[in-house]
Amino acid sequence: MDVLTRIRDTQVRAEKDRREGKTIGVVPTMGALHEGHLSLVRAARSSCDIVTVTIFVNPKQFGAGEDFNSYPRVLDRDISVCENERVDVVFAPEAGEMYPEGFSTTVRVSGLTASWEGSARPTHFDGVTTVVTKLFAITKPHRAYFGQKDAQQVAVIKRMVRDLNFDLEIVVCPIVREPDGLAMSSRNVYLSPGERQEALALVRSLKKAEELVASGTTKSLDIVESMKQVLTDSEIRKRDYIAIVNPDTMEPVETLEPGVRVLVAVAARVGKTRLIDNTIVTLAE
Ligand code: PAF
Repeated sequence: MDVLTRIRDTQVRAEKDRREGKTIGVVPTMGALHEGHLSLVRAARSSCDIVTVTIFVNPKQFGAGEDFNSYPRVLDRDISVCENERVDVVFAPEAGEMYPEGFSTTVRVSGLTASWEGSARPTHFDGVTTVVTKLFAITKPHRAYFGQKDAQQVAVIKRMVRDLNFDLEIVVCPIVREPDGLAMSSRNVYLSPGERQEALALVRSLKKAEELVASGTTKSLDIVESMKQVLTDSEIRKRDYIAIVNPDTMEPVETLEPGVRVLVAVAARVGKTRLIDNTIVTLAE
């Protein structure tokens, strides 16, 4: 496995692999790899000749007062995890390599970045789309793997890839959960044992939405009210949003239509930790 920190070395390696007719799958991450990331790595491993994992805690996607400084950084552990997963290339640059003096370009997807995560974290998606564009230019993938847990990020990146004609496929992998249902996240390490229990209310609220849709509820307002009740019963008062939306446009859906996929997403603060989770529901035809 090559562990590369330089952009040019990574591009040269990717060019060589492409010349040899190999398909490249990239898994962009901020490190602190968990089973969720590993599901992406394994999906890439099963369908690409070369698997590249990028590890970079991207300062541009953290707002003022967010957890950039405390974000878990365990590079040596991540490298050995990648080795065990038969990853071919790890690209782990320093911030100065990615954003040298004078860096002045931002890639922005408008519209679907304005709401939900975008209103809670106004500069977040510009940071994500800018770094992901750079990571694509550096690792030259045929396929790029993202987790459904960051549902709005998936919608934003798919739109960017479509609008800017990136010649690659976005592969979205299902959310990986702990045995008790909590969605895997690098931020779960911030939770105290008590908060860890409280956090399960997010999953319960999503299960409630699934049950309501399965029993024929069509009005989003009714679903949102029941989800709020689940969260408040569990002492989760710092709710950022409950979104019932079109998963591609992130526009609100007021009434569910049979056979149409709808994203139900929730964001809330448990203690000081901000957690997100979601599910896709479809009203029976
Ligand atoms: O999902 C993440 O971990 C990050 O947003 C990403 C895609 C690696 C960009 O920094």
